[in-house]
Amino acid sequence: MIASSLRSSMEIHRTLGFSLFISLSLFHLSIASSFSPIDHYLIDCGSSKPTTVNIDNRRFTGDSSELGSQFLSSTRTISLTDSNPSPSSSPIYHTARVFTRPSKYLFKIRDKGTHLVRLHFHRIDSSNFDLCDSQFHVSANGYVLLNNFTVMNIQKPRIKDFMIWVDSEELIVTFTPSKESKFAFVNAIEVISAPKDLIADVAMLVNSQKTVTINGLMKNSLETVYRVTVGGPKVTPFNDSLWRTWVPDEEFLKSSDGSKSIYFSGRIRYQMGGASREVGPDNVYNSARVISSSNDVIPHLNISWEFPVVGGYKYLVRMHFCDIASVSLGLLKFNVYVNGNSAYENLDLSAITNWALASPFYADFVVDMESSGVLTVSVGPSKMSMPHTIDAILNGVEIMKMNNSMGSLDGLVCVESILKSWPRRNAGAVVPLIAAVCLLVIASFVMHRRWVGVRDSVAWSPLPMHVSEISLKSGIQRSLAKV
Ligand SMILES: *[C@@H]1O[C@H](CO)[C@@H](O)[C@H](O)[C@H]1NC(C)=O
Ligand SMILES: *[C@@H]1O[C@H](CO)[C@@H](O)[C@H](O)[C@H]1NC(C)=O
Ligand SMILES: *[C@@H]1O[C@H](CO)[C@@H](O)[C@H](O)[C@H]1NC(C)=O
Ligand SMILES: *[C@@H]1O[C@H](CO)[C@@H](O)[C@H](O)[C@H]1NC(C)=O
Repeated sequence: MIASSLRSSMEIHRTLGFSLFISLSLFHLSIASSFSPIDHYLIDCGSSKPTTVNIDNRRFTGDSSELGSQFLSSTRTISLTDSNPSPSSSPIYHTARVFTRPSKYLFKIRDKGTHLVRLHFHRIDSSNFDLCDSQFHVSANGYVLLNNFTVMNIQKPRIKDFMIWVDSEELIVTFTPSKESKFAFVNAIEVISAPKDLIADVAMLVNSQKTVTINGLMKNSLETVYRVTVGGPKVTPFNDSLWRTWVPDEEFLKSSDGSKSIYFSGRIRYQMGGASREVGPDNVYNSARVISSSNDVIPHLNISWEFPVVGGYKYLVRMHFCDIASVSLGLLKFNVYVNGNSAYENLDLSAITNWALASPFYADFVVDMESSGVLTVSVGPSKMSMPHTIDAILNGVEIMKMNNSMGSLDGLVCVESILKSWPRRNAGAVVPLIAAVCLLVIASFVMHRRWVGVRDSVAWSPLPMHVSEISLKSGIQRSLAKV
């Protein structure tokens, strides 16, 4: 059973590989031009001017600027600027937009399918809002991304990284404060259409009884909870064609006894049917951790990595392989385990990559984590491993949480219940509001008269007061229209 489904997935890779072999006689894809996304929105929230991130040269559009304001489709939001920004932090974290009621960003989508959506949260110094007091929900096109989200005393930015299936002409990202006394905020939003090969529709479901093929993955939304490059230094957005960050594996490594990390300075040979540069950049595939035997004895050990995860979700585990270690073809055969269960037996990277070394390949596995705990991935020698060779390898691993049956990536809630939880303005609430506004108008009128009467030349401008009246009034008219 296991063997047959594995063989069929290997067969697919071989067929793809062979068609390339015939048509291109193995010209490598690295000569192809780099990926340029059709939908590509970078928004610096709360900023009135474009911001360029010096580390990767990307230009974010300020959502208070004329060009940027088209994305924000809610009024009465507040832009904040850090009064004391840290010079070392990225300029996108020097401003934020605050929402005191449900508010939306709307992005036109030209390329339906999976989109990368990255939300940036970082505390900024402001006398009016302590961002640590915020508590909110974020949803996008029917999926719950964050539920009752808070940022505690964070010194470093928090980046939430999602892949969202978009089936319509627009992507709407909604921020909803969790109650009226709370507020939502965000520093920056990235929306990037993913290359079509980024999320495959098929993966192997691994559990203790069996390994079976499952379909329909593409239409799920995912949150990347870990993205790890193995054996090498951190990979920053500058060196990733989809501007992702890959962290080093040391902190997840269970034990490094008997394994070693290696680095390869040659060219990574991307091939059709294997991993593309968008699936994993050169900097991920040119380092790895391996088990090797330098004598007649094949080491009796596995290398394992452990990832703490929240239960109640399925996880898509993507393991990246690239044989940058073997001296020749056909010497590396090893086993892959997910949560201690066999996921791939006798993985032969040479055969799968159409007899090429340094040619990247990835395998997707799905595991059901019923309760919270650690998700383990391991590689180790197989029955077919040979002495004096490399006996196991891993170059990278990604752990992606899949939305649950309610369409949520954060708890047993659905988008409808979140939107309903926000108290709708009814007549009862509007009446005191109108009264308050009337009082305000009268007060400002009286104040104005007094000021004008007492000191004509005073440098006091009534304008901001009037502006807020206007926006308050129009807000009430809208809620009255709804009633
Ligand atoms: C959000 O947190 C509040 C308490 O702060 C709680 O009452 C509410 O049930 C939570 N909502 C969800 C959907 O978990
Ligand atoms: C990009 O990768 C190169 C080669 O590995 C490395 O020398 C450089 O420091 C990286 N740049 C950034 C900004 O991470
Ligand atoms: C490697 O891990 C698998 C799964 O946990 C286990 O069955 C196997 O015995 C381990 N091999 C060694 C050499 O420890
Ligand atoms: C994720 O959400 C989609 C759409 O709501 C749904 O069809 C799918 O079954 C969900 N995934 C899981 C694993 O429940």
